[in-house]
Amino acid sequence: MGEANGKASDLKAGFVQIYSQLKSELLEDPAFSFTEDSRQWIDRMLDYNVPGGKLNRGISVVDSFEILKGSQLCHDEFFRAGVLGWCVEWLQAYFLVLDDMMDNSYTRRGQPCWFRLPEVEFQTASGQMLDLITTHEGKKDLSKYKMPVYNRIVQYKTAYYSFYLPVACALLMAGENLDNYVDLKRVLVEMGTYFQVQDDYLDCFGDPSLIGKIGTDIEDFKCSWLIVQALEIADENQLKFLEENYGNPDPACVAKVKSLYNDLNLQAKFSEYERSSYEQLISSIEAQPSKQVQEVLKSFLHKIYKRQK
Ligand code: IPE
Ligand code: MN
Ligand code: MN
Repeated sequence: MGEANGKASDLKAGFVQIYSQLKSELLEDPAFSFTEDSRQWIDRMLDYNVPGGKLNRGISVVDSFEILKGSQLCHDEFFRAGVLGWCVEWLQAYFLVLDDMMDNSYTRRGQPCWFRLPEVEFQTASGQMLDLITTHEGKKDLSKYKMPVYNRIVQYKTAYYSFYLPVACALLMAGENLDNYVDLKRVLVEMGTYFQVQDDYLDCFGDPSLIGKIGTDIEDFKCSWLIVQALEIADENQLKFLEENYGNPDPACVAKVKSLYNDLNLQAKFSEYERSSYEQLISSIEAQPSKQVQEVLKSFLHKIYKRQK
């Protein structure tokens, strides 16, 4: 293993250790007055949902802080940045548990979604969700799926907490005032959008054994990057075909949509998007006034560029 990889895996091991400590403190906190059974339940629920991902968001707080500081973190600094990083991961875990119910997904991080476990009761959350969708859902209408709508959804559902939040945490720890970094948010939203486009692409074309989840965007009638692109270039017949098949859970309809995506060369379109947004991101990054911030952004970008999972 190369020097850089060795360092990254040490960092990860140290980061994971902090999780155990935080979990113990939580489980032993008298404010919760757990019964022994409920304590074990929370313990298992946390292990099931919090630490099993790539940890990019959480570790980015720590390594961004180290870059900003310009020298190796002492034990206490590592710990404090690690705690903030776990706050981001904990938040992410909460979003994902709900997201899998919303999307009626099957697997996440290589295991069944939490709500699918027979012993998990999810009625309250599902009820809330049903309430929400019954209010907002009109009849299926593909004409609203355009890039500006897509960008807005993605900015809120993914980019802020996955990209801006970790770097903002690290900057605050380094004593910076976020008001002095207005353009940074724009760049990180751009990076978060690129990340969600990859996620949408992998939902359809990725390998479930690598990404740890089985895609459901087509059956769910999601406003995914792929459908938005398809709608931009489809002719009248193809449009009709999509209206008939998109959002239908029947596997035959899903297969038809995928084969239309192939006819429309969406894989090539994605590769071109990936190349040009990388180029665009690098130039936005290089326009940042601080060299350290540039390094933070590049390090985050290189974690996700051409990812397969
Ligand atoms: C959800 O996006 C963003 C959040 C987790 C808040 P997706 O619905 O596309 O995420 P996956 O594909 O299920 O992970
Ligand atoms: Mn989802
Ligand atoms: Mn997705």
